[in-house]
Amino acid sequence: MDTSIVGVDAREILDSRGNPTIEVDVVLGDGSIGRAAVPSGASTGANEAVELRDGDKARFGGKGVRQAVENVVEQIGPEVEGLDAVDQAGIDQLLIELDGTPNKGNLGANAILGVSLATAHAAAASLGMPLYRYVGGVGARTLPVPFFNILNGGKHAQDSTDFQEFMVAPIGVETYAEALRAGAEVFWALRSILHDEGHGIGQGDEGGFAPSLKSNEAAVEVIVRAIEKAGYKPGVDVAIGLDPAASSILEAGTGTTGPDGKAITGRYRLTRENRTLDSGELIDLWASWVDRYPIVSIEDGLAEDDWAGWVELTKRLGSKVQLVGDDIVVTNPTFIQRAIDERAMNAVLIKLNQIGTLTETIGAIELARSTGWRAQVSHRSGETEDTTIADFVVALGTGQIKSGAPSRSERVAKYNRLLRIEEELGDAAIYPGRSALAVTR
Ligand code: PGA
Ligand code: ZN
Repeated sequence: MDTSIVGVDAREILDSRGNPTIEVDVVLGDGSIGRAAVPSGASTGANEAVELRDGDKARFGGKGVRQAVENVVEQIGPEVEGLDAVDQAGIDQLLIELDGTPNKGNLGANAILGVSLATAHAAAASLGMPLYRYVGGVGARTLPVPFFNILNGGKHAQDSTDFQEFMVAPIGVETYAEALRAGAEVFWALRSILHDEGHGIGQGDEGGFAPSLKSNEAAVEVIVRAIEKAGYKPGVDVAIGLDPAASSILEAGTGTTGPDGKAITGRYRLTRENRTLDSGELIDLWASWVDRYPIVSIEDGLAEDDWAGWVELTKRLGSKVQLVGDDIVVTNPTFIQRAIDERAMNAVLIKLNQIGTLTETIGAIELARSTGWRAQVSHRSGETEDTTIADFVVALGTGQIKSGAPSRSERVAKYNRLLRIEEELGDAAIYPGRSALAVTR
């Protein structure tokens, strides 16, 4: 067993939307190989680490990642060769220093994350351990509650809802395998209801249906019916989670920070319903939905700059429902600390490519947990066959994952990997169900 890095290679591959992304291989002295592919978002937070793209319109409409590949092969490779892959924190720190910018804009967070994750995979392979055990140790035995995004809108679909994601979470079943089954059954029940009622059953970027319903609320209503049709009790067996991705519906020119440092918050446009709402009115809408529907989690209920709104939202609903920060905190300890100081949410979304290294991602989760918050590990809308997040969520035991619908192989790859992990853990596996949520009422 020789865990020293002897080779680093990278290439441009395609993601699930047909856009290029980077894949990295790390080879160790004993011949072990680790490989990781980096995902890509569409409704990205303004403060995410930089995804380096070539901008050469003659290739892939400017989305090529040849520069990121070159950065890995020519700049990062020679620096990490000879280092011990088991020293993940040391290698991640070196990657941060080599880049030298606060947002990884020099080498690219996609290049850096590829190396960071491939290093962990290589070390785990050399030690003969599954990744979840290498990263999480003997305590890694909690499977996550999956949040299945079965109805896609916003930037992930065309002519569908204004709100981006309508998810179902099987909180009242006994095992992860049963949760996966419930998700698939509700997905199929939804398909048949939509079909029977004359709606399209085309799918959005994350595999959920993307029907042209008359309102956003109609999406929640039809999902409640789908849960029932599949034989589950809404709110007891299977609950609803939302990610309206509110930054995406804030009207252009608003939502910026004024000279006094306070947010200038504009109006949220609901195109489907031909109306706009201010921050307080959108909070009222969430309050009324939480009262009337079995909703247990709302992510990005307000825009990334609407800090005052988030504080108000948390005051109003923080004891009733999980409030997850995505665009507003971008897996970044600096923003998570501000959210803790201001009590602006009760959970965070975790996306490895928002921050760019494995070690920093673990730090973001630890910080959120230190104040009693929950962390939901997430895929991106542009994904690959890479299943690192499945192992990662078990390693960290955060108890929640979102990886899209139980349909389309880049989404299902993660869900199936979790099935294998549960099988491998056998009786030691824990499925947390409702207790995984920030609010368990
Ligand atoms: P993205 O969206 O991957 O397209 O950024 C996911 C999310 O908003 O949670
Ligand atoms: Zn989100």
